[in-house]
Amino acid sequence: MSERSPKQLAALHAASAVQSGMRLGLGSGSTVYLIVQALGERLARGELRDLQVVVASRWTEDAAKDAGLTIATLDDLPQLDLAIDGADEIDPQRNMIKGGGGALLRERIVLAAAAQRMIVVDDSKLVQTLGERWAVPVEIVQFGWRVPEAALRRQGAQPVRRMDGAQPLITDEGNFILDCAFGPIPDPAALDRRLRAIPGVMDHGLFIGMADRVIVGGADGVREL
Ligand code: A5P
Repeated sequence: MSERSPKQLAALHAASAVQSGMRLGLGSGSTVYLIVQALGERLARGELRDLQVVVASRWTEDAAKDAGLTIATLDDLPQLDLAIDGADEIDPQRNMIKGGGGALLRERIVLAAAAQRMIVVDDSKLVQTLGERWAVPVEIVQFGWRVPEAALRRQGAQPVRRMDGAQPLITDEGNFILDCAFGPIPDPAALDRRLRAIPGVMDHGLFIGMADRVIVGGADGVREL
């Protein structure tokens, strides 16, 4: 049996799909961190060259720089060949909840810029219905934040402002996050539309139709969903 965890196996598999010369988008989170490490090792071994990487968070940027990756921006590279990211929950239709790391707004933009989107998870992230385990993170502007909070409550959520120690967490784009437990979400597309209609909502963690490939690590190895 492999000594690597399911998440590590999936991350290595994803990193092996990256080719020289690619314009690559990277999301955020612990799975992406493992992919960054694996890419750095492939570069150091000379297996990869001319890789340009666009990142969705400062956290990923620091990790990518440490691993020796060449960082670009979406201003330089508005079209990416491939974007790779993690997820918090994913359903059989490949819809996802993302944003556990608070980078959802930039992650969506990076995924939207890519010709192909690859999501990498371990099998603990697979659910039948989104919302079974995770709250939906909703990113809101700081101004008048109690107004969208009340609107989210009327939509059936129990919003909790995400904290960073004793202070509210501020995203890379300067916004708050409200973690909104809806319970199981039978129609994620309908909830997506309702959330987007709330003034002050910048984005939310329901990602619908944004996973072209899903790589799943499990005790028995790696498979594609
Ligand atoms: C970051 O904001 C998220 O969308 C991550 O992609 C998600 O939380 C998965 O993170 P892990 O790879 O750490 O599980």
